[in-house]
Amino acid sequence: MYFCRLNYLKNMELMDLGAKEHDELRQGEAFLPFKNDPNLYKKHFFIESYGCAMNFADSEVVASILQEQGFGATKDLAQADLILLNTCSVREKAEQTIRKRLTEFRKYKEKKNGLLVGVLGCMAERLKSKLLEEEKLVDMVIGPDAYRSLPILIEEAETGQKAVNVLLSRDETYADIAPIRLDSNSVSAFVSIMRGCNNMCSFCVVPFTRGRERSRDAHSIYAESVDLFEKGYKEITLLGQNVDSYYWMDEPNAHSVTFAELLEKIALISPLLRVRFSTSHPKDITDDVLHTIAKYDNICNYIHLPVQSGNNRILQLMNRTYTREWYKAKVDRIREIIPDCGISTDIISGFCTETEEDHQDTIEIMQYSKYDYAYMYFYSERPGTLASKRFEDDVPEEIKKKRLQEIVDIQYHLSLNSNKNDVGKTFRILVDGESKKDNRFWKGRNDQNKVAVFEKKEFGIKMGDYVYVKINDCTKGTLLGAFVRF
Ligand code: SAM
Ligand code: SF4
Ligand code: F3S
Repeated sequence: MYFCRLNYLKNMELMDLGAKEHDELRQGEAFLPFKNDPNLYKKHFFIESYGCAMNFADSEVVASILQEQGFGATKDLAQADLILLNTCSVREKAEQTIRKRLTEFRKYKEKKNGLLVGVLGCMAERLKSKLLEEEKLVDMVIGPDAYRSLPILIEEAETGQKAVNVLLSRDETYADIAPIRLDSNSVSAFVSIMRGCNNMCSFCVVPFTRGRERSRDAHSIYAESVDLFEKGYKEITLLGQNVDSYYWMDEPNAHSVTFAELLEKIALISPLLRVRFSTSHPKDITDDVLHTIAKYDNICNYIHLPVQSGNNRILQLMNRTYTREWYKAKVDRIREIIPDCGISTDIISGFCTETEEDHQDTIEIMQYSKYDYAYMYFYSERPGTLASKRFEDDVPEEIKKKRLQEIVDIQYHLSLNSNKNDVGKTFRILVDGESKKDNRFWKGRNDQNKVAVFEKKEFGIKMGDYVYVKINDCTKGTLLGAFVRF
């Protein structure tokens, strides 16, 4: 959600894009949460983030580290002394986007002596110092576990040397760093609860770019969430590549914390704080988690449950470690314990050796699961992954795209039907902004993560308010309604 969201859970807008590669759209500029006094900071940084929510959350850690060093954020490239791109490697297209963006910085480099360009995140980790050879304009390459070394690397780069740190860590979680919220609507925020991934899905580059899975100290997650709530935030999304395998040992008290327990602890901060999470691996989400969601009204009834494929042979080649039968049973269990739960997914078309019959199994599992939304991609071979080593990328691109289009078309109808079923119902919406299409309308999301818009009129509503909205119409991406009451 894999999602985003990014701005956050802009994910709802991204979901609307269907199969369109949305990495470019996930970029976000620093929003200047810093004091806007040009004399307050000796230098300025510009940061742009791509990829998943975890990258956006990391950029907020980076902003915090840089502020400590006297850097202020700027949205103006011309004002920047340091340009940072926090990058994604998940598909080839994501990396192409970064390379294109880098070329656009050349003119700023030419104009401003000493301007530094740094590449952070997954592409930095994947390509390491090779990136410096390939992209001459880049001064610094910094992997996701090396952000604490930014001040030293900047100093090094200021002397004219190229600076690189791509060491992965087994224990870095940045638990003690208070992120500075960038691009924030002051309503929703991300809280990272773990880093890395141990799953080794054969198509996926993430275990190589993010390293081993590790869970963050539960006390620091709690403290960050309380702090956000006290600052007026109304919604937090707990983030990890595989949140259901969260496990933290409180050594002094000889007490372990599971994801279900963490969810409960965060939900108990206040009934006015909405709690979301992403992403769940179908093999790991437990009944305990489902019962915890059902127990607390402020834990949203929404689960992102990536299926990837509906065919058992392909699932095995993907190393997803579940079968279609297991997956369907999980969907049934979710609907049994949380009857009104929204479910979204990720799907890849055209994985190695996928036949037309295999593809039909994916269509069938979509119809069975009745997803509210889906992020849909065609397979993009990533160097170094298990699939790239073991299997031939043998489905022609036009077939991959044709199957993807079918998947998108099916999802269009599933999303539309799901929304049509909501017409006539009243939902509690958390208002998180104005409608992009028409500023006479408020925009917000319901418990199931669906976007709802309604006319502002003279009700005195403001961002961060919870309001009840009666739905009277819909598109496949949006519920359209009218304000009922606070
Ligand atoms: N951890 C999450 C999970 O297990 O589903 C999501 C991780 S990944 C960053 C987000 C999505 O990108 C995946 O669920 C998958 O659908 C897609 N993806 C990953 N590698 C891909 C590849 N090589 N080609 C196409 N899509 C890919
Ligand atoms: Fe990638 Fe699989 Fe880990 Fe998700 S669970 S990040 S798809 S390896
Ligand atoms: Fe996220 Fe892309 Fe890295 S999806 S973990 S930023 S490869």
